[in-house]
Amino acid sequence: MINSENIASILNDYDLENLTIGTLGSHSSLNIFKGAKEEGFKTVCICREKDAILYKKFPLADEVITVQSFAEILSEPLQEKLRKLNTILIPHGSFTAYLGTGQLVEGLMVPMFGNRKLLHWEANRNEQADWLSKAGLRLPLTFEKPEDIDRMVIAKMSGAKGGSGYFLVNSPQSFYKQFSLMVGRGLLREGDIDDIHLQEYIIGVNVYPQFFSSIVKNDVELLGIDRRYESAVDGISKIPAREQLEIETNPSYTIVGNLPLALRESLLPEVLRMGDNVHKKAAELAPPGLVGPFCLETVVTEDLKIFAFEISARIVAGSNIGIGTSPYAYLKYGPGMYMGRRIAMEIREARESGALASILI
Ligand SMILES: Nc1ncnc2c1ncn2[C@@H]1O[C@H](COP(=O)(O)OP(=O)(O)O)[C@@H](O)[C@H]1O
Ligand SMILES: [Mg+2]
Repeated sequence: MINSENIASILNDYDLENLTIGTLGSHSSLNIFKGAKEEGFKTVCICREKDAILYKKFPLADEVITVQSFAEILSEPLQEKLRKLNTILIPHGSFTAYLGTGQLVEGLMVPMFGNRKLLHWEANRNEQADWLSKAGLRLPLTFEKPEDIDRMVIAKMSGAKGGSGYFLVNSPQSFYKQFSLMVGRGLLREGDIDDIHLQEYIIGVNVYPQFFSSIVKNDVELLGIDRRYESAVDGISKIPAREQLEIETNPSYTIVGNLPLALRESLLPEVLRMGDNVHKKAAELAPPGLVGPFCLETVVTEDLKIFAFEISARIVAGSNIGIGTSPYAYLKYGPGMYMGRRIAMEIREARESGALASILI
Protein backbone atom coordinates (compact mmCIF):
# COMPACT_ATOMS: atom_id res chain seq x y z
CA MET A 1 0.00 0.00 0.00
CA ILE A 2 1.48 3.32 -1.01
CA ASN A 3 1.35 6.13 1.54
CA SER A 4 2.98 9.48 2.11
CA GLU A 5 5.92 7.86 3.91
CA ASN A 6 6.94 5.52 1.14
CA ILE A 7 6.35 8.18 -1.52
CA ALA A 8 8.70 10.43 0.46
CA SER A 9 11.33 7.70 0.65
CA ILE A 10 11.05 6.98 -3.11
CA LEU A 11 11.42 10.71 -3.82
CA ASN A 12 14.43 10.75 -1.53
CA ASP A 13 16.23 8.37 -3.90
CA TYR A 14 15.16 10.35 -6.99
CA ASP A 15 17.43 12.69 -8.90
CA LEU A 16 14.96 15.59 -8.91
CA GLU A 17 16.87 17.47 -11.61
CA ASN A 18 16.33 14.51 -13.95
CA LEU A 19 12.66 13.70 -13.58
CA THR A 20 10.82 11.75 -16.26
CA ILE A 21 7.12 12.16 -16.95
CA GLY A 22 5.52 8.82 -17.73
CA THR A 23 2.14 7.45 -18.68
CA LEU A 24 0.35 4.58 -20.41
CA GLY A 25 0.31 4.95 -24.19
CA SER A 26 -3.33 5.83 -24.83
CA HIS A 27 -6.12 8.33 -23.99
CA SER A 28 -4.29 11.67 -23.59
CA SER A 29 -0.67 10.49 -23.66
CA LEU A 30 0.41 12.69 -26.60
CA ASN A 31 -1.05 15.71 -24.80
CA ILE A 32 0.88 14.75 -21.63
CA PHE A 33 4.18 14.01 -23.43
CA LYS A 34 4.14 17.19 -25.51
CA GLY A 35 3.48 19.26 -22.41
CA ALA A 36 6.26 17.50 -20.50
CA LYS A 37 8.78 18.12 -23.31
CA GLU A 38 7.81 21.80 -23.51
CA GLU A 39 8.49 22.15 -19.79
CA GLY A 40 11.89 20.46 -20.12
CA PHE A 41 11.17 16.93 -18.83
CA LYS A 42 12.13 13.57 -20.26
CA THR A 43 9.26 11.24 -21.13
CA VAL A 44 8.55 7.51 -20.91
CA CYS A 45 5.65 5.69 -22.55
CA ILE A 46 4.36 2.26 -21.50
CA CYS A 47 2.99 1.09 -24.79
CA ARG A 48 1.22 -1.91 -26.30
CA GLU A 49 2.79 -3.36 -29.45
CA LYS A 50 -0.26 -2.54 -31.58
CA ASP A 51 -0.06 1.17 -30.67
CA ALA A 52 3.69 1.61 -31.21
CA ILE A 53 3.15 3.37 -34.55
CA LEU A 54 1.67 6.34 -32.67
CA TYR A 55 4.91 7.06 -30.85
CA LYS A 56 6.99 6.55 -34.00
CA LYS A 57 4.92 9.00 -36.03
CA PHE A 58 4.72 11.44 -33.11
CA PRO A 59 8.13 10.93 -31.44
CA LEU A 60 7.34 12.57 -28.11
CA ALA A 61 8.40 9.72 -25.83
CA ASP A 62 12.15 9.52 -25.12
CA GLU A 63 11.72 5.96 -24.00
CA VAL A 64 9.06 3.49 -25.11
CA ILE A 65 8.55 0.37 -22.98
CA THR A 66 6.52 -2.23 -24.84
CA VAL A 67 4.11 -4.44 -22.87
CA GLN A 68 1.53 -7.09 -23.74
CA SER A 69 -1.09 -5.48 -21.51
CA PHE A 70 -1.26 -2.32 -19.42
CA ALA A 71 -1.61 -4.40 -16.25
CA GLU A 72 2.12 -5.15 -16.59
CA ILE A 73 2.78 -1.73 -15.10
CA LEU A 74 2.11 -3.46 -11.78
CA SER A 75 5.04 -5.85 -12.27
CA GLU A 76 7.97 -5.21 -9.95
CA PRO A 77 10.73 -5.10 -12.66
CA LEU A 78 8.78 -2.50 -14.64
CA GLN A 79 8.11 -0.39 -11.56
CA GLU A 80 11.79 -0.61 -10.67
CA LYS A 81 12.71 0.56 -14.15
CA LEU A 82 10.32 3.52 -13.86
CA ARG A 83 11.78 4.48 -10.49
CA LYS A 84 15.32 4.28 -11.96
CA LEU A 85 14.18 6.84 -14.55
CA ASN A 86 12.91 9.09 -11.69
CA THR A 87 9.42 8.77 -13.12
CA ILE A 88 6.32 10.64 -12.09
CA LEU A 89 3.27 8.92 -13.58
CA ILE A 90 0.33 10.93 -14.88
CA PRO A 91 -2.92 8.94 -14.51
CA HIS A 92 -5.57 9.14 -17.22
CA GLY A 93 -8.75 7.26 -18.13
CA SER A 94 -6.91 4.09 -19.14
CA PHE A 95 -5.36 3.73 -15.67
CA THR A 96 -8.72 3.29 -13.97
CA ALA A 97 -10.20 1.38 -16.94
CA TYR A 98 -7.41 -1.22 -17.14
CA LEU A 99 -6.08 -1.40 -13.59
CA GLY A 100 -8.94 -0.59 -11.22
CA THR A 101 -8.62 1.93 -8.41
CA GLY A 102 -7.73 -0.67 -5.76
CA GLN A 103 -4.65 -1.82 -7.66
CA LEU A 104 -3.66 1.77 -8.38
CA VAL A 105 -3.72 2.68 -4.73
CA GLU A 106 -2.24 -0.55 -3.42
CA GLY A 107 -0.01 -2.00 -6.13
CA LEU A 108 1.68 0.91 -7.86
CA MET A 109 4.77 2.04 -5.98
CA VAL A 110 5.74 4.80 -8.37
CA PRO A 111 4.94 8.43 -7.51
CA MET A 112 1.78 9.50 -9.30
CA PHE A 113 0.59 13.05 -9.94
CA GLY A 114 -2.69 13.87 -8.19
CA ASN A 115 -4.70 12.59 -5.26
CA ARG A 116 -5.12 8.80 -5.51
CA LYS A 117 -7.83 8.77 -2.85
CA LEU A 118 -10.18 10.67 -5.16
CA LEU A 119 -9.85 8.06 -7.91
CA HIS A 120 -11.73 5.83 -5.48
CA TRP A 121 -14.56 8.34 -5.09
CA GLU A 122 -14.77 8.73 -8.82
CA ALA A 123 -15.36 5.01 -9.34
CA ASN A 124 -18.58 4.87 -7.31
CA ARG A 125 -21.68 6.56 -8.70
CA ASN A 126 -23.39 7.06 -5.34
CA GLU A 127 -20.35 8.49 -3.58
CA GLN A 128 -19.74 10.70 -6.57
CA ALA A 129 -23.30 12.03 -6.50
CA ASP A 130 -22.94 12.66 -2.77
CA TRP A 131 -19.74 14.67 -3.33
CA LEU A 132 -21.23 16.76 -6.14
CA SER A 133 -24.47 17.54 -4.32
CA LYS A 134 -22.63 18.44 -1.11
CA ALA A 135 -20.61 20.84 -3.26
CA GLY A 136 -23.90 22.57 -4.08
CA LEU A 137 -24.16 21.40 -7.70
CA ARG A 138 -27.50 20.73 -9.36
CA LEU A 139 -27.84 17.00 -10.06
CA PRO A 140 -30.41 14.98 -12.00
CA LEU A 141 -32.80 13.18 -9.63
CA THR A 142 -32.12 9.54 -8.91
CA PHE A 143 -34.85 6.94 -8.49
CA GLU A 144 -34.53 4.16 -5.92
CA LYS A 145 -36.64 1.59 -7.77
CA PRO A 146 -38.31 1.20 -11.19
CA GLU A 147 -41.77 1.69 -9.59
CA ASP A 148 -40.81 5.31 -8.81
CA ILE A 149 -40.19 6.30 -12.44
CA ASP A 150 -42.52 9.18 -13.34
CA ARG A 151 -40.55 10.96 -16.07
CA MET A 152 -37.89 10.26 -18.67
CA VAL A 153 -35.08 8.30 -17.02
CA ILE A 154 -31.72 7.02 -18.21
CA ALA A 155 -30.94 3.55 -16.85
CA LYS A 156 -27.19 3.12 -16.42
CA MET A 157 -25.13 0.13 -15.49
CA SER A 158 -22.69 0.75 -12.67
CA GLY A 159 -19.16 1.05 -13.91
CA ALA A 160 -20.18 0.62 -17.57
CA LYS A 161 -17.99 2.82 -19.70
CA GLY A 162 -19.27 4.27 -22.91
CA GLY A 163 -22.91 3.77 -22.16
CA SER A 164 -23.28 0.30 -23.63
CA GLY A 165 -26.41 -1.27 -22.20
CA TYR A 166 -27.90 2.09 -21.15
CA PHE A 167 -31.52 2.74 -22.09
CA LEU A 168 -34.19 5.43 -21.78
CA VAL A 169 -37.64 4.82 -20.27
CA ASN A 170 -40.49 6.94 -18.91
CA SER A 171 -42.59 4.60 -16.73
CA PRO A 172 -42.22 1.41 -14.62
CA GLN A 173 -43.92 -0.55 -17.42
CA SER A 174 -41.55 0.71 -20.09
CA PHE A 175 -38.61 0.00 -17.76
CA TYR A 176 -39.47 -3.69 -17.39
CA LYS A 177 -40.25 -3.99 -21.10
CA GLN A 178 -36.97 -2.37 -22.17
CA PHE A 179 -34.99 -4.33 -19.61
CA SER A 180 -36.32 -7.66 -20.99
CA LEU A 181 -35.55 -6.52 -24.53
CA MET A 182 -31.97 -5.65 -23.52
CA VAL A 183 -31.60 -9.06 -21.86
CA GLY A 184 -33.05 -10.71 -24.96
CA ARG A 185 -30.50 -8.96 -27.14
CA GLY A 186 -27.68 -10.09 -24.86
CA LEU A 187 -26.74 -6.53 -23.82
CA LEU A 188 -27.71 -7.11 -20.18
CA ARG A 189 -28.18 -10.12 -17.88
CA GLU A 190 -31.18 -10.80 -15.60
CA GLY A 191 -28.98 -10.24 -12.53
CA ASP A 192 -28.05 -6.73 -13.69
CA ILE A 193 -31.41 -5.40 -12.56
CA ASP A 194 -30.15 -4.73 -9.02
CA ASP A 195 -27.12 -2.76 -10.25
CA ILE A 196 -28.99 -0.37 -12.49
CA HIS A 197 -28.77 3.29 -11.60
CA LEU A 198 -31.95 5.19 -12.54
CA GLN A 199 -31.32 8.85 -13.23
CA GLU A 200 -33.59 11.60 -14.47
CA TYR A 201 -32.80 12.24 -18.13
CA ILE A 202 -32.09 15.93 -18.65
CA ILE A 203 -32.98 17.29 -22.06
CA GLY A 204 -30.35 19.76 -23.14
CA VAL A 205 -26.85 19.90 -24.58
CA ASN A 206 -23.72 18.41 -23.09
CA VAL A 207 -20.96 20.70 -21.83
CA TYR A 208 -17.73 19.32 -20.35
CA PRO A 209 -15.59 21.97 -18.61
CA GLN A 210 -11.98 21.00 -17.89
CA PHE A 211 -10.40 22.42 -14.76
CA PHE A 212 -6.93 22.41 -13.24
CA SER A 213 -6.61 22.60 -9.48
CA SER A 214 -3.22 24.07 -8.65
CA ILE A 215 -1.75 23.38 -5.23
CA VAL A 216 1.22 25.64 -6.02
CA LYS A 217 -0.98 28.63 -6.93
CA ASN A 218 -3.88 27.67 -4.66
CA ASP A 219 -6.39 28.21 -7.46
CA VAL A 220 -8.81 26.31 -9.69
CA GLU A 221 -8.36 27.28 -13.34
CA LEU A 222 -10.71 26.68 -16.28
CA LEU A 223 -8.54 25.54 -19.20
CA GLY A 224 -10.98 24.27 -21.79
CA ILE A 225 -14.49 23.15 -22.63
CA ASP A 226 -15.49 20.39 -25.02
CA ARG A 227 -18.44 18.37 -26.13
CA ARG A 228 -18.35 14.75 -27.17
CA TYR A 229 -18.93 13.02 -30.44
CA GLU A 230 -20.62 9.77 -29.47
CA SER A 231 -21.67 6.75 -31.49
CA ALA A 232 -24.47 5.80 -31.92
CA VAL A 233 -26.38 8.74 -30.33
CA ASP A 234 -24.83 11.38 -32.57
CA GLY A 235 -25.52 9.22 -35.61
CA ILE A 236 -29.13 8.41 -34.81
CA SER A 237 -30.16 12.04 -35.31
CA LYS A 238 -29.26 11.75 -39.01
CA ILE A 239 -31.89 9.07 -39.52
CA PRO A 240 -35.51 10.24 -39.97
CA ALA A 241 -37.87 9.27 -37.13
CA ARG A 242 -39.87 6.87 -39.29
CA GLU A 243 -36.77 4.76 -40.06
CA GLN A 244 -35.60 5.03 -36.46
CA LEU A 245 -38.80 3.30 -35.38
CA GLU A 246 -38.17 0.45 -37.78
CA ILE A 247 -34.64 -0.38 -36.68
CA GLU A 248 -33.57 -1.64 -33.28
CA THR A 249 -31.58 1.30 -31.96
CA ASN A 250 -30.62 2.02 -28.43
CA PRO A 251 -28.65 4.98 -27.22
CA SER A 252 -25.05 3.87 -26.85
CA TYR A 253 -22.50 6.56 -26.09
CA THR A 254 -19.22 5.13 -27.35
CA ILE A 255 -16.88 8.08 -27.51
CA VAL A 256 -15.28 8.63 -30.90
CA GLY A 257 -13.84 12.10 -30.42
CA ASN A 258 -14.30 15.54 -28.86
CA LEU A 259 -15.27 18.92 -30.26
CA PRO A 260 -14.15 22.27 -28.84
CA LEU A 261 -16.83 24.49 -27.39
CA ALA A 262 -16.94 28.18 -26.54
CA LEU A 263 -19.61 28.55 -23.88
CA ARG A 264 -22.12 31.37 -23.77
CA GLU A 265 -20.25 33.86 -21.57
CA SER A 266 -23.10 34.37 -19.13
CA LEU A 267 -22.78 30.70 -18.14
CA LEU A 268 -19.10 30.98 -17.24
CA PRO A 269 -19.48 32.47 -13.73
CA GLU A 270 -21.56 29.49 -12.60
CA VAL A 271 -19.17 27.02 -14.24
CA LEU A 272 -16.25 28.65 -12.42
CA ARG A 273 -18.10 28.53 -9.09
CA MET A 274 -18.88 24.85 -9.69
CA GLY A 275 -15.17 24.09 -10.17
CA ASP A 276 -14.21 25.98 -7.00
CA ASN A 277 -16.92 24.32 -4.90
CA VAL A 278 -16.16 20.78 -6.07
CA HIS A 279 -12.52 21.31 -5.09
CA LYS A 280 -13.49 22.81 -1.72
CA LYS A 281 -15.71 19.82 -0.91
CA ALA A 282 -13.00 17.40 -2.08
CA ALA A 283 -10.57 19.06 0.31
CA GLU A 284 -12.88 18.04 3.17
CA LEU A 285 -13.43 14.49 1.88
CA ALA A 286 -9.83 13.70 0.98
CA PRO A 287 -7.33 16.45 1.84
CA PRO A 288 -5.90 18.44 0.11
CA GLY A 289 -8.71 17.89 -2.42
CA LEU A 290 -8.33 17.84 -6.16
CA VAL A 291 -4.74 18.01 -7.35
CA GLY A 292 -4.35 18.80 -11.04
CA PRO A 293 -6.89 18.17 -13.79
CA PHE A 294 -10.55 17.33 -13.26
CA CYS A 295 -13.62 17.51 -15.47
CA LEU A 296 -17.34 17.87 -14.88
CA GLU A 297 -19.89 16.26 -17.18
CA THR A 298 -22.92 18.51 -17.46
CA VAL A 299 -26.13 19.07 -19.40
CA VAL A 300 -27.41 22.62 -19.96
CA THR A 301 -31.18 22.97 -20.41
CA GLU A 302 -33.16 25.47 -22.47
CA ASP A 303 -33.69 27.65 -19.39
CA LEU A 304 -29.89 27.63 -18.93
CA LYS A 305 -29.78 25.44 -15.85
CA ILE A 306 -26.58 23.43 -15.54
CA PHE A 307 -26.97 19.83 -14.31
CA ALA A 308 -23.84 17.85 -13.39
CA PHE A 309 -24.00 14.07 -13.69
CA GLU A 310 -20.40 12.90 -13.43
CA ILE A 311 -16.88 13.95 -12.43
CA SER A 312 -13.47 12.70 -13.52
CA ALA A 313 -10.73 13.45 -10.99
CA ARG A 314 -7.92 13.30 -13.56
CA ILE A 315 -7.08 14.47 -17.07
CA VAL A 316 -9.89 13.77 -19.55
CA ALA A 317 -9.44 13.01 -23.24
CA GLY A 318 -11.61 16.06 -23.99
CA SER A 319 -8.61 18.20 -23.07
CA ASN A 320 -6.94 16.92 -26.27
CA ILE A 321 -8.97 19.55 -28.14
CA GLY A 322 -6.76 22.12 -26.40
CA ILE A 323 -3.32 20.77 -27.40
CA GLY A 324 -1.53 23.96 -28.44
CA THR A 325 -4.17 26.24 -27.01
CA SER A 326 -7.85 26.68 -26.25
CA PRO A 327 -9.87 29.87 -25.76
CA TYR A 328 -9.84 29.61 -21.95
CA ALA A 329 -6.19 28.55 -21.61
CA TYR A 330 -5.35 31.43 -23.96
CA LEU A 331 -7.29 33.95 -21.87
CA LYS A 332 -5.41 32.85 -18.77
CA TYR A 333 -1.90 32.15 -20.09
CA GLY A 334 -1.60 33.43 -23.65
CA PRO A 335 -0.53 31.05 -26.41
CA GLY A 336 0.93 27.61 -25.86
CA MET A 337 -0.85 26.43 -22.71
CA TYR A 338 -2.93 23.22 -22.51
CA MET A 339 -3.65 20.50 -19.98
CA GLY A 340 -0.59 18.31 -20.62
CA ARG A 341 1.68 21.31 -20.33
CA ARG A 342 -0.15 22.71 -17.31
CA ILE A 343 0.49 19.41 -15.47
CA ALA A 344 4.22 19.55 -16.29
CA MET A 345 4.35 23.22 -15.26
CA GLU A 346 2.84 22.37 -11.86
CA ILE A 347 5.43 19.61 -11.35
CA ARG A 348 8.25 21.96 -12.33
CA GLU A 349 7.02 24.73 -10.02
CA ALA A 350 6.44 22.32 -7.12
CA ARG A 351 9.98 20.99 -7.56
CA GLU A 352 11.39 24.52 -7.59
CA SER A 353 9.64 25.36 -4.33
CA GLY A 354 10.53 22.01 -2.71
CA ALA A 355 6.86 21.00 -2.56
CA LEU A 356 6.81 17.94 -4.84
CA ALA A 357 5.41 15.68 -2.13
CA SER A 358 2.30 17.89 -1.87
CA ILE A 359 1.18 17.03 -5.43
CA LEU A 360 2.05 13.30 -5.46
CA ILE A 361 -0.46 11.90 -2.98
N1 LIG B 1 -28.89 12.45 -16.61
C1 LIG B 1 -28.58 12.53 -17.91
N2 LIG B 1 -29.29 13.32 -18.74
C2 LIG B 1 -28.97 13.39 -20.06
N3 LIG B 1 -27.96 12.71 -20.64
C3 LIG B 1 -27.22 11.91 -19.87
C4 LIG B 1 -27.47 11.78 -18.47
N4 LIG B 1 -26.58 10.92 -17.95
C5 LIG B 1 -25.81 10.52 -18.97
N5 LIG B 1 -26.16 11.12 -20.13
C6 LIG B 1 -25.55 10.87 -21.45
O1 LIG B 1 -25.01 9.54 -21.44
C7 LIG B 1 -23.59 9.55 -21.62
C8 LIG B 1 -22.94 8.46 -20.74
O2 LIG B 1 -23.31 8.64 -19.38
P1 LIG B 1 -22.24 8.68 -18.18
O3 LIG B 1 -22.99 8.78 -16.89
O4 LIG B 1 -21.24 9.75 -18.47
O5 LIG B 1 -21.62 7.23 -18.27
P2 LIG B 1 -20.13 6.71 -18.44
O6 LIG B 1 -19.79 6.13 -17.11
O7 LIG B 1 -20.29 5.69 -19.51
O8 LIG B 1 -19.27 7.88 -18.81
C9 LIG B 1 -23.18 10.97 -21.30
O9 LIG B 1 -21.99 11.36 -21.94
C10 LIG B 1 -24.40 11.79 -21.75
O10 LIG B 1 -24.34 12.03 -23.15
MG1 LIG C 1 -19.26 9.86 -18.54
